[in-house]
Amino acid sequence: MILNRRFHLGAWGYTPRPMSADPLQRLCAAFQQAIMLVLGDSFAGTDPVIRASTKPEHGDFQCNVAMALGKRLDRQPRDLAEELIAAVDLTDLALTPEVAGPGFINIRLNPEAVATAIMDMDTESLGVQKDEAPGIVVIDMCGVNVSKQMHVGHLRSTIIGDAFARILERLGHDVRRENHLGDWGLPIAMVLHLIRTRGIDPVTLSLTDLDAIYRDAQALAKADHAGLVAARAKNVGPHRIAELETQNEAASEFRAAAGETLVVLQSGDSDLVRDWKTLIEITLDAMNEAVELLGVQLNPEDNRGESFYREKLPAVLEWFESRSLCHEDNGAMVVKFPDRKRPLLIRKSDGGFLYATTDLAAVRVRSQETMATQCIYVVDARQRDHFKDIFDAAEIAGWDQTPNGRHVLYSHTGFGSVLGPDRKPLKTRSGETVTLASLLHEAITRGQIEVRRRAEDSNAPTHGLSTKELDTIGRSVGIGAVKYADLANDLVRDYVFDLDRMVAFEGDTGPYLQYAHARIRSIVRKADDNGSGATIILDTPEERQLALTILRWNDTVHATAASLEPHRIAGFLRDLAENFNRFYQACPVIKTADESTRRSRLRLVDITGRVLADGLNLLGIDAPPHM
Ligand code: ARG
Repeated sequence: MILNRRFHLGAWGYTPRPMSADPLQRLCAAFQQAIMLVLGDSFAGTDPVIRASTKPEHGDFQCNVAMALGKRLDRQPRDLAEELIAAVDLTDLALTPEVAGPGFINIRLNPEAVATAIMDMDTESLGVQKDEAPGIVVIDMCGVNVSKQMHVGHLRSTIIGDAFARILERLGHDVRRENHLGDWGLPIAMVLHLIRTRGIDPVTLSLTDLDAIYRDAQALAKADHAGLVAARAKNVGPHRIAELETQNEAASEFRAAAGETLVVLQSGDSDLVRDWKTLIEITLDAMNEAVELLGVQLNPEDNRGESFYREKLPAVLEWFESRSLCHEDNGAMVVKFPDRKRPLLIRKSDGGFLYATTDLAAVRVRSQETMATQCIYVVDARQRDHFKDIFDAAEIAGWDQTPNGRHVLYSHTGFGSVLGPDRKPLKTRSGETVTLASLLHEAITRGQIEVRRRAEDSNAPTHGLSTKELDTIGRSVGIGAVKYADLANDLVRDYVFDLDRMVAFEGDTGPYLQYAHARIRSIVRKADDNGSGATIILDTPEERQLALTILRWNDTVHATAASLEPHRIAGFLRDLAENFNRFYQACPVIKTADESTRRSRLRLVDITGRVLADGLNLLGIDAPPHM
């Protein structure tokens, strides 16, 4: 029953897309074809093992498949290599390859073919092709909780979710960002109850106040049953036992009162509903401030919290019950899975519904009403088991198909924690969790300091810009630095929030890429010519290398969308910026006397700049024209 199809991420690998402009992908396809011609259809899909050459005298690429195949078939690799060369069709792509050593195939690309491919992609889309079967994609992101401060986990969810949205939109999908706000349930009712008993008017509260009340409420509701049992067993004395008994009684009274508040709220009591809405507003105001600082597109209609699903929970239970898909367990209702002990609780024995029930209702709406063919949950890695249960239960319920029969791909992108310099979860000096807004303000300040400092140099391209202009750039640098650090590594990995390193213009940073882009813009500005329409000539190895890198763009975007690994785009951009810097050191552009070389190089520079800006944009990072 559990098919695990959702983890099947499409046939991405070295398998080429039909229209790839990337010479590497085209070589793979051509050699795959040749392997089939020589060895038969049973060898379809063999990885042709093509790698970039490490030495220029070996050509641009090497195909190393003959060695492995020779061993497997007990044949001379060199003979096999010759046969593959005779069979492979590299028309317009490469010169006739040569066999070397034990059976390497050295491939030299046809420079005109590379130049033509580059000129072909010099369009508005920069060679990025739309997906063949676009669909509706829901991205569950942000997920703040009403009455609580946004913390760095919500920062990651928002940044990563936004990058996914941009990438999938770029490929033609209809993306819906959804903020699954924690705006319903007992915790909120406890806050409302406490506000009432304290006689506070919620309108007067800030989110910081609310956060404190939230924590008070949690503490008040906390019974220490284990403590009481232990105290009795250890005979600690009547005083301590009485204290614990009082605490436990008070806690259960508090929870009962909050439960009543929830019932009254649920019944639509106008005063309580008004107060509840006020709490949401206070939370959303603070969230919007952070979202705006981040430059993330999250609109009011994207806020679809847990309360949106509250009327739909009984129907979820009913769906499972009427089809005998759930079981009673001590008065509770659970969904069982064939491959593990842990069941999924969907109704408590007291009749209450849970976080999981709400998520099932959301899955149902997303797949059956929104008709999404892909649902991506960007939620921290600690909720992995929860989402595994939800997705498997969705499959059991039949919500892995849209009503018009398309498969729904569910995935959870669990991300790691953000650590402080001590490698422990980020805390302020006084030990509180760091709020998102404070972190972003600090990043912006650091970006602005860095940009102002650099502008003091009379040779800097930013020298003479107004303070306002510099601060705008500094803001892009600070926020870009945070986003890049968040996206440039494997998402499940924890990372250290180190602003010094993140805002540096050198190293594996966002500002390094932004700076490379700005330098390119300044070259084109100085030349007053973007090389438009020039014939591209790739005479030097540096020009070739830069061009080959640019041609990986389309495949990089598709590979990122299929794997949901933004670090692939980050890595590509780093390669691009590095290859650009090598090119720029070796090949004069503006100072080249020969007009056709100069214009060819300008066109290459301009395309490089546009691909850099496109890539940064897909990661949600600004690309300022001056830096
Ligand atoms: N509010 C939740 C939290 O802070 C995140 C919500 C994630 N989305 C979901 N559909 N469960 O942990």
